[in-house]
Amino acid sequence: MNNNPLHEIYEELDNAQSESKRALFDTPLMKKRLSKKRQMEERLFLRAQSVHAEIPKFTYKAARFEEVWLLDSIGGLYESKWITDVLSKVKGGKEASVYLCAAGDSVADKLVAAKIYRPRTLRNLKNDQQYRQGRTDLDSEGKAVIKDGDLHAMAKRTAYGEELRHQSWISYEFVSMQKLFEAGADIPRPYTLASNALLMEYVGDESASAPTLNEMRLERREALALFERVIHNIDLLLKHEIIHGDLSAYNILYWDGQIKLIDFPQVVSPHTNPNAFAIFSRDVKRVCEYFAKQGVDSDPRRIARDLWAGYGYPEKESVPRSLIDADGMDDR
Ligand SMILES: Nc1ncnc2c1ncn2[C@@H]1O[C@H](COP(=O)(O)OP(=O)(O)OP(=O)(O)O)[C@@H](O)[C@H]1O
Ligand SMILES: [Mg+2]
Repeated sequence: MNNNPLHEIYEELDNAQSESKRALFDTPLMKKRLSKKRQMEERLFLRAQSVHAEIPKFTYKAARFEEVWLLDSIGGLYESKWITDVLSKVKGGKEASVYLCAAGDSVADKLVAAKIYRPRTLRNLKNDQQYRQGRTDLDSEGKAVIKDGDLHAMAKRTAYGEELRHQSWISYEFVSMQKLFEAGADIPRPYTLASNALLMEYVGDESASAPTLNEMRLERREALALFERVIHNIDLLLKHEIIHGDLSAYNILYWDGQIKLIDFPQVVSPHTNPNAFAIFSRDVKRVCEYFAKQGVDSDPRRIARDLWAGYGYPEKESVPRSLIDADGMDDR
């Protein structure tokens, strides 16, 4: 469980260091927050010092505050020998950072990827509610949260409730990946879930991680084959009652001529989410848009309708424009 308030401070400090945000600190409210932040910074500084003394000597040299975040998130994976070293940061993003790690003996591969979630994942996530509708929250073991007190805390959005929601978000990614990997989907193999991190197969090699599809220009022939493969995966997910929910060329890795779908925390169910068909159609549309630029023309509406009808999921004729048009590939 990610219940360490210092993670929040790490993020604040991160933000404060960005020049563009500095002007924000001039308002009275922000001044008050700043003073609170200074107190927290002192606490974090002490914690950072103790962490520095206890941290294993990773090859990757994290910044001071990042080091705390890293150790708190994946220290357990190191202690339980899932990983033996952190080698580099693959990508630092708004929702999560991914690190390349050396794997322990229990993993067949030499390299693994650790995805560490930023605490602000939930706060910044656009329309987070649209994905949560009809979704039972999960605990750190992937079991449904059923205790009244926990449900109440989540509904009231208390600090504890937010932790549970954060955990549920992470658990959904892991549980869905387990299910899909077993089903034979083209996704990185998930290994284990730590307090705030997911350990999975690394796609790439020592010198470079796999690019995402949006960075690639494909020959038409290859584009056609990969398009069919992506649609096959979308169909396989649907068959297993999973809609990705944020699928686009940004969440598909390309390596050695193969694709791997990634980034699953927002998955929705075709049965229980009231906007399931709209969310599904948007995934299909974004994929088709990318492949159209690679010379593969298709009819996304028809593809979405046909796949959907193939499983007899609830008919949803109207697709709200806001869902289809908002947050398109070009807005990213
Ligand atoms: N298994 C992996 N192997 C290699 N690279 C990976 C792997 N998983 C993720 N990445 C890289 O890390 C990036 C972020 O991962 P992911 O898409 O899962 O997180 P995210 O929530 O989208 O984060 P953000 O929104 O901050 O980009 C990916 O775009 C990809 O470049
Ligand atoms: Mg992503």
